[in-house]
Amino acid sequence: MKIKAAENGPYLIDVNEAKIVKDGNEEKITQKTITLCRCGGSSKKPFCDGSHKKIDFKGEALEIELT
Ligand code: FES
Repeated sequence: MKIKAAENGPYLIDVNEAKIVKDGNEEKITQKTITLCRCGGSSKKPFCDGSHKKIDFKGEALEIELT
């Protein structure tokens, strides 16, 4: 599995299938790329809502390969 960080943006995780479990409730995630907030500014944490652009978040692009 590979996790990417977009330059000045969120973490990007490509998935075939995923679910989020919160307070005992499961939600199936249907999109192929999950975007997780890296800037701390999202109102939809853990997901990115685009707020990184408004707060002018700076972060380098990188890739993390999990083996
Ligand atoms: S990285 Fe996009 S809102 Fe935080």
